[in-house]
Amino acid sequence: MSKTVASQFPEGLESQFHRVWWFVALDLIAFWVVCKKKIRKFFGLKAPKVNSMLYDGLSKYCRDVKDTATSWRALDIVYNMKPFAKPQNMSERLYNLYYGMENAQAVRNRRKIIAAEITDAIKRAGAAGHSKVRIMSVAAGSAQSVMEGIGSVPENVDKVLLLDIDPKAIEHAKNLAVESGIGAKFDGVAAHFKEYSNHAEPFRPHVVEVAGLLDYLPENVAVEFFRNIKKRLPRGGTLLTCNIAPNKEQYFLKHVINWGRMIYREESELRGILEQAGFSDIRIFPEPLQIHQIAVCTAE
Ligand SMILES: C[S@@+](CC[C@H](N)C(=O)[O-])C[C@H]1O[C@@H](n2cnc3c(N)ncnc32)[C@H](O)[C@@H]1O
Repeated sequence: MSKTVASQFPEGLESQFHRVWWFVALDLIAFWVVCKKKIRKFFGLKAPKVNSMLYDGLSKYCRDVKDTATSWRALDIVYNMKPFAKPQNMSERLYNLYYGMENAQAVRNRRKIIAAEITDAIKRAGAAGHSKVRIMSVAAGSAQSVMEGIGSVPENVDKVLLLDIDPKAIEHAKNLAVESGIGAKFDGVAAHFKEYSNHAEPFRPHVVEVAGLLDYLPENVAVEFFRNIKKRLPRGGTLLTCNIAPNKEQYFLKHVINWGRMIYREESELRGILEQAGFSDIRIFPEPLQIHQIAVCTAE
């Protein structure tokens, strides 16, 4: 396993005893938030502005994540946060606790693993005779994994096409690429993922990365989308994707962070979707906390 992949529990909560209490505490907070939302609804009031003082009430970082939940912005915050070495107040203590919550660690693990898999996919495409590789990222967001993956082999990459429904995501990602010195390779298109074929047809990608999208797609939509990707991948090309799996913090995610609407899938369900889409060379593995399943499908 890559040394860069974290699976540490929040400082001070390393023992099994503390772990159990951590999950109980998260569920109790979530239970209270559910009650609060129901009571407000009963009296015809809007959803609360603050879900819990112990999350978005006292921590600005948590509030920012909650207010941008499900978007690339929330992930951008979680990817790049750094714990306080010496927290001075309650807000900083809460920040450190939620920095270490398993789902936060798991998306950072996912980001690092996808970056490593992008590097491998570029090399694989090269070995299959595609010396200058084209990469397409769908629902690209900040495309941080893609940039990190290209980082060690930039000379093997011809072009990167980012597709995202949010033009601000594309703008942000392109600025990051410029800062990383690989901006000239990046192009972007603000489009719905269902327009994939229109953009992939002229671009002809060797590597397609789709992270943080499948979690929201029903099975039939996902199968059709991946079938379109499969149809256009050359031999030695790769589809990289992932799905969130059922986990102990999902109740908290949904009710306290307002990160709802996700479809939690087991490894077998993810495999089923990819097989129905026509892939046969499929490698699926979890990140260390088993919260995200990563799938690497190679076209034969
Ligand atoms: C959770 S973020 C994932 C971002 C990035 N792939 C990552 O893993 O860091 C989901 C992204 O999907 C984009 N998105 C949502 N619906 C979309 C759609 N229908 N078509 C294309 N992109 C979409 C959002 O704008 C957002 O950037």
